[in-house]
Amino acid sequence: MKRLSKTAAAAVSAVLAMQSLPLVGTIHAADAGKEILVTGFEDDGASKFTKRGDDDTSVIEKSTEKPHSGDACMSVTGRSEGWNGPALVLSDLGCEPGVRYIASAWVKTQWYNECKLSLQYTDADGEQHYSNLSKAVSQGEWVKIPDTKFSFSADMKDVQIYIESNDKVDLYVDDFFLTEGPSYSIQKDIPSLKDVYSGYFKVGTAVTAAELAPNATKDLIRKHFNSLTLGNELKPENMLDQKACQKYLKENDDNTVPQVRLQGSAKIILDFAKENNIPVRGHTLVWHSQTPTWFFKDDYTMDGDWVSKDVMLKRMENYIKGVFEVIEAEYSDIDFYAWDVVNEAFDDNTAGPRNPGVYEDYRGDSAWVKVFGDNSFIKYAFKYARQYAPAETKLYYNDYNEYMTEKQNSIIKLVRELAADNLIDGIGMQSHLDVRKGSDAFPSAQHYAMGMKNFVDVAKELNLDLQVTELDATLDKDYLNETGFKTQAKYYSDIMDVIVKYKDYISAVVFWGTTDDQSWRVEGLPLLFNEDYTAKPCFDSIIDGIEYVEPPVTTPKVTTTKAVTTTTEAVTTKEAETTSCILTTGYGVIRYGDTDCNNMIDVSDAVLLARVITEDRNAVITDSGRKNADCDRNGTLDPDDITMILRHIAKLEILPVAE
Ligand code: GLA
Repeated sequence: MKRLSKTAAAAVSAVLAMQSLPLVGTIHAADAGKEILVTGFEDDGASKFTKRGDDDTSVIEKSTEKPHSGDACMSVTGRSEGWNGPALVLSDLGCEPGVRYIASAWVKTQWYNECKLSLQYTDADGEQHYSNLSKAVSQGEWVKIPDTKFSFSADMKDVQIYIESNDKVDLYVDDFFLTEGPSYSIQKDIPSLKDVYSGYFKVGTAVTAAELAPNATKDLIRKHFNSLTLGNELKPENMLDQKACQKYLKENDDNTVPQVRLQGSAKIILDFAKENNIPVRGHTLVWHSQTPTWFFKDDYTMDGDWVSKDVMLKRMENYIKGVFEVIEAEYSDIDFYAWDVVNEAFDDNTAGPRNPGVYEDYRGDSAWVKVFGDNSFIKYAFKYARQYAPAETKLYYNDYNEYMTEKQNSIIKLVRELAADNLIDGIGMQSHLDVRKGSDAFPSAQHYAMGMKNFVDVAKELNLDLQVTELDATLDKDYLNETGFKTQAKYYSDIMDVIVKYKDYISAVVFWGTTDDQSWRVEGLPLLFNEDYTAKPCFDSIIDGIEYVEPPVTTPKVTTTKAVTTTTEAVTTKEAETTSCILTTGYGVIRYGDTDCNNMIDVSDAVLLARVITEDRNAVITDSGRKNADCDRNGTLDPDDITMILRHIAKLEILPVAE
């Protein structure tokens, strides 16, 4: 075991001490790079803006009616929808992929309206995507849409930014500003998180296609992370193709086969993962949120009748099957090492099922509960996931506030039921945390430790894995200062100490985002990197003093016997250097059935055991492998152990777990 050298730690601290405090809030014009379009509309600025397609009835022109500044502004009148409005086609203005841009504008509407700055693009399959970047509310007065950063990647075509409002009211725009943002690069002279923790667990991050666009973000991920979660792109709302569902229903008179596809935005991230050989956490198959209600309706429309439980079960099965199929078809070489099968099924207050309802009306309500009446859908989701997921993909139940006693009890009860049928491999602790000013953090590190210990006990007992899946820790609004960042660093360090303590039961720690400005909780600056890609004090605190542990031998995605043999040999070498394969595979307990110590129980375990029993001199088995192989725990390796492994694989028997 090696410690991070003092010199290395000192160098890191020096770099961190030199850096300025994170940029809070927005970037200001003074920081900006090359101008793309800056106009007060006294000039011909309005002519650069276009309508949004043929159905857009708006009239966009220069106006002298009460501008925000100067003599003129831009008026957008005759709108027949709130989405009608002034758009800029970025390629016409010379904007390029991978560059950060900043846009802002003053806007005014006739009466109360949210005015949004939005971005649209067309993906490789010709599908259009829209996202709101920022907004301001006007009630007849001028308001500023704040400076907003955005980027796009080469795969995004026909990228436009535009201003829209809720209603089709007249819209006025003034003092519009679009410039290149400052160009950032990552710090090359700081340790890599994934290397520091390589002997412990994977360190991951989550990213959306848009967030991945800047080159610096790609560099940051390559340097620090060895697990990637797609922020939104694999969620049902993006995987389900409504038109194709309706077409299939019409052509086949069968309403049980929802149509699934990978959108271009998902492919942007998956291509990046593939090119850089980064393993992926699949997120998420069955969830009340970001799952369109039409998926639960007779004709796949919002107005249809709710389908029966039987139909929904078939839809669920075909959906899960479809997700694994489309991924396998194009990305079979990506290591999808984990999937969240069900996300957030328990209500925070009751710790029971969520309220039945329409998620679009109230984000906490669940259409799954509406159709099933309770949480009985969960077990089916795991059953189908087990059936259709690749054998090496581990299956997780994932939730937030997972350390709250009652919710945790519900999760543990569920996990026990699923484990009894060998349907689950692990628990995902989202870990969206908060550092508070003047009081304890929520949860306190002690509280979090208790919660984790409870899960660890269950993991030990049931031979399951734990993953921290969405870690971030916000600061209070009035704590975004040096003291706050120090407190955040201490808190992160305490939380990491808890995680490290239980490292043998934890295979991945995933942060929910890269730089603070990209976080879904941006106002609390909850992540490890500032928006200029420099490391924050909390980055320093979670690597400082971490003991270096020799990384486990990772099992490549193997399909041939030859490769399996190689892996086994690699494990043997590893074991000779350290103590046992149990330690190096990250489980820390005997894992009955895992003869080749690769963290999977499959036919190769039975084959290796057969070769060992028949005294095949070329068969390589470690001491730990021998312990794992003795499934009936009678002290000898014999054909009964092989039978038990095969019955376990065929799901006819559950292997014992270590006491
Ligand atoms: C939950 C979900 C994530 C993500 C975050 C917010 O934690 O599991 O997928 O949506 O909320 O970004």
